[in-house]
Amino acid sequence: MSAECGVCRAKLGHLFNSTLNSPHCFNFTLHTVFSMIAWDDKILHWFLEASAHTGYHRDLAALLWTRLGHFATAFDLGAGSGALSLALARLGVRVTAVEVQQAATDNLKKLVATAGLGDRVQVIQADWTRLVGPSAEVGILSYCNGVCDQWPALRRLCQKRLVVLKGAASGPAPLFGMKGFPARTPKDRHESTASIRAALKGYGVTFTEEPHFRDFGQVLADQADLEDFLRRYYGERIAARVQEAAALCERLPDGRLYLPRQRQSALFLVNMEEICSPLTKR
Ligand SMILES: C[S@@+](CC[C@H](N)C(=O)[O-])C[C@H]1O[C@@H](n2cnc3c(N)ncnc32)[C@H](O)[C@@H]1O
Repeated sequence: MSAECGVCRAKLGHLFNSTLNSPHCFNFTLHTVFSMIAWDDKILHWFLEASAHTGYHRDLAALLWTRLGHFATAFDLGAGSGALSLALARLGVRVTAVEVQQAATDNLKKLVATAGLGDRVQVIQADWTRLVGPSAEVGILSYCNGVCDQWPALRRLCQKRLVVLKGAASGPAPLFGMKGFPARTPKDRHESTASIRAALKGYGVTFTEEPHFRDFGQVLADQADLEDFLRRYYGERIAARVQEAAALCERLPDGRLYLPRQRQSALFLVNMEEICSPLTKR
């Protein structure tokens, strides 16, 4: 498996090598893996709080459910926190959430059990590009690469539709509605909205592309939590500007802070029906 740390160039012999947990080894290249968030309890907590507060994944699931016509099965490829998997399962979809990182899959398994959704969500810790077995009606790549160089795997896994959500904004500040603060756009040398568009055209598939700009702001316990968040997401230089960021926050009724941000994405809906090879259906 061709994997190496993007910083120290260390070869990662295996995807689940413990090197993944070392601080600089979260940005390696491994087929489709890119700008990997190194999930831990804190980052998962922040992400899931943002999702719950803004309704981002609930609304995205509802949008897909409406637009793609009440599909029964889906793959959430590179599921991360699994917020989208859970939201889809609540609509009745049987979801297979595939994620390489153990911290994320462990957490998601607990969430699934707590929500009583064990019959609808299967969590698999794996590299989705290597999955074999039954395909699903819909495959979802939300902020996970693969369109450009893992097309055979996507054809194998998605029967009807492929959904691709990709960071669409570039440039500074306005991205997260924080004037003077840099955008935290992934340093993604691998795939962009332009390369995805070009690849899909090259494959000769029918697809639509639309902007998907939605609030995805951060719920934070207090100013210390805000500073910690800024440090983890933007680095020391920005963490030092915690007072400015605090001034941008709203105070929630329970006393916590809400840092307004927006996730600016392009949403691609791809028709796979014409090109998919028939595989075992579930
Ligand atoms: C930027 S995060 C996005 C998470 C989630 N889909 C979302 O939209 O919030 C990308 C996720 O994909 C996972 N990932 C990347 N390549 C993968 C692969 N080949 N197989 C499984 N998971 C992968 C990473 O570990 C990370 O959790």
